[in-house]
Amino acid sequence: MSRRASINELKSAVYPVRSAEQLSLARRAVLDWATRLEFSLVDRTKFVTAASELARNTWVHGKGGEMTMSQLERDGLTGLRLVFADNGPGIENIGQALTDGFSSAGSMGKGLGGAKRLVNEFDIRSAPGRGTTVTVIQWKRR
Ligand SMILES: Nc1ncnc2c1ncn2[C@@H]1O[C@H](COP(=O)(O)OP(=O)(O)O)[C@@H](O)[C@H]1O
Ligand SMILES: [Mg+2]
Repeated sequence: MSRRASINELKSAVYPVRSAEQLSLARRAVLDWATRLEFSLVDRTKFVTAASELARNTWVHGKGGEMTMSQLERDGLTGLRLVFADNGPGIENIGQALTDGFSSAGSMGKGLGGAKRLVNEFDIRSAPGRGTTVTVIQWKRR
């Protein structure tokens, strides 16, 4: 039997990410949920910054998609999970995409690697022609 407590999903909502306005609404929703759940200012800022970079990638590189936000509970800890999913071109070399300074679009190339460093859990799945899904979780410190 696994000793790791299972994750309960308490509440969930989906936000489209297909325009600059929707990107800012999604970002705002992450800030609202993190504030309501009383995450620290530092953790809130980190998570919203990561969300903003990932939502921008979904929109710009992924040609639009959606963000699903869920409130989690595991072993008495509160968390927030964001899943960014698109059906865009996908990523051929994920290691390269995560490297600071790499951009296929001539931009800063620090979004993906930066987002990974700002959150507690990070997962990316992508393949050429199959779109991209990035999942991040931030746990609220006791
Ligand atoms: N959702 C996505 N779909 C396709 N490619 C992506 C996606 N997200 C990231 N990438 C690829 O990873 C690279 C690095 O992303 P990032 O670090 O955010 O830098 P930037 O957005 O400045 O290019 C992008 O240039 C792009 O090639
Ligand atoms: Mg980016």
